[in-house]
Amino acid sequence: MENTTVAPHKKRALSCIQPTGVPTLGNYLGAMRNWVEMQDELDCAFAVADLHAITVRQEAAQFRNQIYEMFALLIAVGLKPDKSLLFVQSHVPAHAEMTWLLACHSQFGELSRMTQFKDKSAKHSDNINLGMFAYPSLMAADILLYQPNYVPVGDDQKQHVELTRDIAERFNNVHGKVFVLPEPYILKKGGRVKSLQDPTKKMSKSDENQNAFISLKDSPDTIMRKCKRAVTDSEADVRYAQGKDGINNLMEIYATITSKSFDEITAEFKGRGYGDFKVAVAEAVIETLRPVQQRFDDLMKDKAYLEQMMKQGAERAAAISNRTLDKALKKMGFVVL
Ligand code: TRP
Repeated sequence: MENTTVAPHKKRALSCIQPTGVPTLGNYLGAMRNWVEMQDELDCAFAVADLHAITVRQEAAQFRNQIYEMFALLIAVGLKPDKSLLFVQSHVPAHAEMTWLLACHSQFGELSRMTQFKDKSAKHSDNINLGMFAYPSLMAADILLYQPNYVPVGDDQKQHVELTRDIAERFNNVHGKVFVLPEPYILKKGGRVKSLQDPTKKMSKSDENQNAFISLKDSPDTIMRKCKRAVTDSEADVRYAQGKDGINNLMEIYATITSKSFDEITAEFKGRGYGDFKVAVAEAVIETLRPVQQRFDDLMKDKAYLEQMMKQGAERAAAISNRTLDKALKKMGFVVL
């Protein structure tokens, strides 16, 4: 007889973030904050994708610090090491091993078509390396090792998740079923935070103009200044409309943080002009980031704790990923001892 007392198996989700630069308000509202909510409904894994970061040159001391920082930030935003699996990619050797198996199932043609490869190779034309080209095979390994149903990513990574599915399907067809086919999970809420200086573009941490983005480490004064300088149109009505990209973006940010609707925001700032509104947006951002920044600062002072959490995560991640790796190796005909 079926045992109805057993809780139904939770669906799994996995995502990773590169330790390059400080995440922006856009990364926070669009991705990380949603991950925190996902922890309750799904069996989640989140990793710092340090191996992905070396497809472009990193300076060692700074790189090491950024790995600690990104791991600390995962915890600071509210991900719980006892609830979600949190780890650093390079601590789990199965990722690099699986990458080779999957690289041998990734076609030259499909890798050549990846938009990110085209962009990156144009930007770093002095160092177009094999890793940059094979980046999607490593990302496929990150994902497929953990058999997730969903991969929460931004629009720009959708193509890589789709390629991961193709690689998984190809592998399963040739060798027998090993991998679950993952689906991209495009986050809706707060997913489209735009540049404060050119609101037709996405807010990006690599923008040359520092005023274009709010970093998670910006001080309250800096956040206030950047919000006040945000580009807006020449009207004075706080309302969401076509052609008002700057205001629309600030409304989007304010709505995401306060859970107010656009109509409610318009009513709140009726007759008050953009100046007041910008200050209110800045204050909302400052208050949302304050506890995250506080936890982050505390965690960065306790490297021993961070390393202990990294170790614990790596052990759990190794147990799951080695099982999948062994299965793939066996199906392919390797001698697995
Ligand atoms: N490529 C992703 C990015 O730059 C990071 C990443 C690496 C990732 N491995 C992943 C995302 C696995 C989701 C799943 O944003």
